[in-house]
Amino acid sequence: MALLAILCYPDPRLHTVAKPVQAVDARIRKLVADMLETMYDANGIGLAATQVDVHERLIVIDVSEERNQPMVLANPEILWASDDKQVNDEGCLSVPGIYDGVERSSRIRVRALDGEGNSREIEAEGLLAVCIQHEMDHLVGKVFVEYLSPLKRNRIKTKMLKARRDGERV
Ligand code: NI
Repeated sequence: MALLAILCYPDPRLHTVAKPVQAVDARIRKLVADMLETMYDANGIGLAATQVDVHERLIVIDVSEERNQPMVLANPEILWASDDKQVNDEGCLSVPGIYDGVERSSRIRVRALDGEGNSREIEAEGLLAVCIQHEMDHLVGKVFVEYLSPLKRNRIKTKMLKARRDGERV
């Protein structure tokens, strides 16, 4: 396994639209293992392939307290989303240190392939529902800060670019 480099906002590659996974084969299983290692290492609860510069529809998630319930979603599709919405503070490994409220459906039903390539339907609510919707946005090139006001988004962009410059100077 290997740790993968996570793209940081406002990297334009984060706005790439991912293509479907053709088959859950050895290459994808290796990518899943690396993405899980990268997500756990960064203390994240979800990671989309887009964030590691692989533009295929693949997500890994673990919202468990014990960090021992990895989920793999390849080619996820939302089958149903509740009209009932909720605002939750979200963060993102591609936007480190930034947390802000985003409104999303409280409950969703999703179909995806799991890590073995089997089709599964998942009913999600709470943190899992938020996380799946957040990660699925990455697959269409959307970062959560795009839900915030232009003013906030520009502040975040400036902060990220400054952090990157300062980091490079060290
Ligand atoms: Ni994210």
